[in-house]
Amino acid sequence: MTVKFGNLTLSSPYLPASGCYGYGTEAWKLFEGVTLTWGAVTTKTITLKPRQGNAPPRIFEAENGVINRVGLQNCGLDIFINEKFPEIKKLSCPAVISIFGENPDEWLEIASRLGTAAAQALELNLSCPNLKGEVVTRDRKKCSAVVKKLRNACSVPLWVKINAVDSPVDLSMELEKLGVDAIVCSNSIPCAVNFEGKIYEGGLTGPAIKPIVLKAVRQIRQKISIDIAACGGISSYSDVEDYSLAGASAFVIGTALLKNPDAVNSIMNQQKEKILRKGNNNG
Ligand SMILES: Cc1cc2nc3c(=O)[nH]c(=O)nc-3n(C[C@H](O)[C@H](O)[C@H](O)COP(=O)(O)O)c2cc1C
Repeated sequence: MTVKFGNLTLSSPYLPASGCYGYGTEAWKLFEGVTLTWGAVTTKTITLKPRQGNAPPRIFEAENGVINRVGLQNCGLDIFINEKFPEIKKLSCPAVISIFGENPDEWLEIASRLGTAAAQALELNLSCPNLKGEVVTRDRKKCSAVVKKLRNACSVPLWVKINAVDSPVDLSMELEKLGVDAIVCSNSIPCAVNFEGKIYEGGLTGPAIKPIVLKAVRQIRQKISIDIAACGGISSYSDVEDYSLAGASAFVIGTALLKNPDAVNSIMNQQKEKILRKGNNNG
């Protein structure tokens, strides 16, 4: 089931979503029987300095989904490169490192050091809803400046993670012109929740966002030719078929992993069953 995606050859079109699969190696240690069926592993977003993230509460159940306001908790670049990345490299699939910088120089430092450390692709998290200030992609000048700087300086494939609600089509067209290799749509959708009488802002994920992301993927596909990875509420092979029809060529699984860290295996089994059923009906 090998696929070409943004210059990389992936052994399957399935990837874990950033932030829903730790640094990529934990599931094998924590859960017996988890299968290595990923086309690549995507890490939690890495920042230059370690981050504690937001104080609790950080995760809320929602109708048909989850709301989170984790706020990019991670170990920081030094620990990632020295301790986490060597472990990830032992997996038999490429590593896509999700990154975030506070300013263009920080973005460049993170990207350059990860390029030197042999990351197979970088996913620029320009759409996190859980930081102070606005989602970066809403400031198109800032967003373009970061992407231009990284594109000029780094040969590593650059994927950009956008959200499905902040002008995703115009933005994707601009990103394609700037030379990015692929679009990942969508990050969690900015939202708010009342928890015990206090309103918290966060990001909505899971099946609740799928119809919104499906529309964005379809509309983006009509305007750009680089690859699109769909991310939003995928938990079954039928979701994969929907996104494939809309024009995605890779499928990124997030919230479903919180329930079942081996979700990709059950999706692949559903796919095999469907192919077999088709074969039997034709025979
Ligand atoms: C608990 C949690 C943490 C997340 N952390 C990140 C992150 O660090 N970086 C990022 O780009 N997206 C992060 N996301 C967003 C997911 O990568 C994904 O874009 C989103 O969950 C939509 O996919 P889904 O509907 O399959 O969950 C996080 C999502 C959740 C639920």
